[in-house]
Amino acid sequence: MQSVRIKGRAKLQGKVAISGSKNSGLPLLAASLLTDEPVVLTNVPQLNDIRFMLQLLEFLGCETTFEQNQTRVRALKIHGNPSYELVKQMRASICLLGPLIARLGHAEIPLPGGCVIGQRPIDLHLRGLQKLGCDIRIQNGVVCASATHLRGTNIFLGGRQGSTVTGTANILCAATRAKGITTIQSAACEPEIIDLCHLLLAMGAKIEGIGSPTLIIEGVDSLHGASHRLIPDRIEYGTFFMLALMTRSAIQLPPLDPCLSGALLYILEQSGARWEENADGILVRGDRSSLNPVELTTLPFPGFSTDLQAQMCALMTQVEGVSVITERIYPSRFMHISELGRMGADILLEGSSAIIKGATTLSGAPIMASDLRAGASLYMAGLAAEGETIVQRVYHVDRGYEKLDEKLCQLGAEIERFDDKNI
Ligand code: EPU
Repeated sequence: MQSVRIKGRAKLQGKVAISGSKNSGLPLLAASLLTDEPVVLTNVPQLNDIRFMLQLLEFLGCETTFEQNQTRVRALKIHGNPSYELVKQMRASICLLGPLIARLGHAEIPLPGGCVIGQRPIDLHLRGLQKLGCDIRIQNGVVCASATHLRGTNIFLGGRQGSTVTGTANILCAATRAKGITTIQSAACEPEIIDLCHLLLAMGAKIEGIGSPTLIIEGVDSLHGASHRLIPDRIEYGTFFMLALMTRSAIQLPPLDPCLSGALLYILEQSGARWEENADGILVRGDRSSLNPVELTTLPFPGFSTDLQAQMCALMTQVEGVSVITERIYPSRFMHISELGRMGADILLEGSSAIIKGATTLSGAPIMASDLRAGASLYMAGLAAEGETIVQRVYHVDRGYEKLDEKLCQLGAEIERFDDKNI
């Protein structure tokens, strides 16, 4: 398995490009199943999760290509039974469910199984599909869904932790081909759902209320091919932003569409971060001594994203005072805390809150990435720490950050990848 060796006390400088959004790419690729004509996506990040999704689509019978950040998928003759061997590699495989039902009237998708960031049920996806007229059974670990006709209806998608992002994507895709009008209440408002709506509109769908918690979809008889450019990855953006602050670096980021930022810039500004808007976008000159501790809770968009929680924890280890970071979306998504602790961070976990006593000196250590975002926070800590850090299991990071090592090295970081015989 691969690990990276990171030289600490890095001072980074330069311009970084932000890739297309992984969490847009996955449901949008799945939506290609809705038509037998080609769907072309551009600005697609070259990531393992994207390759898994393309493999799944090929398994279902699609023709696919992926060259230079452009995918082309043609779902001419497909079936609805993806294999467990593929599905278990990625939870976002569930995004195939809605499009397959809409296109074929049936799908049999193995449940993806456990996830290190916490419980990830799909009850809301299934309830929504049932309301559209699907018969759903779970048999031998497989979701078996079938419908002779999908009928437009009212669906409430709110759960204990708010709405569901991939659940909204599934119901939205299924509703585009249902008879009549579907109203989704408590739909997810994440920019990735807006991006999906824009692709679906380009394919001929009729959707109103885009970006709001109430989506109104008038079903159509068929959808056609389309081309669409993915939005930038707001989580990658936030990661580089916080990295600049944490390592006292000067990183030039592209402009950030306020529709993508949500609470991120507001919270950083409240904490005392300053940046310069210039012709190229946003220049972050990291000065963590001017930062104040934060008290924040992760929430659905536009609240502070759970996918930036680990990175914020890493940053706050370097900020004088006590920060309290509460996780509402995945209450046990704190695997990074003990690894940061091994580097000298002073963090106490109280239920679903991390209480961070900041301004400790981090020292390099061998540490292990447990998931994608935890991995990103460990890179940040390694770059800020004294001495050398080895991050193991970097395959997690490769799932969601395009060319992270390369981008960091271009900014002046010293990062070396190697086959680790110790894991
Ligand atoms: N939930 C339910 N029932 C459901 C579905 C979700 O109770 O049927 C709960 C979940 O347990 C969770 C909350 O609702 O507490 C939100 O889950 P959601 O379904 O929105 O998550 P997701 O769609 O599975 C996407 C992203 C995640 C991101 C979450 C939250 C993709 C492919 N994944 O997951 O991204 O954390 O939304 O914003 O879009 C990541 O990129 O690192 C990542 C984990």
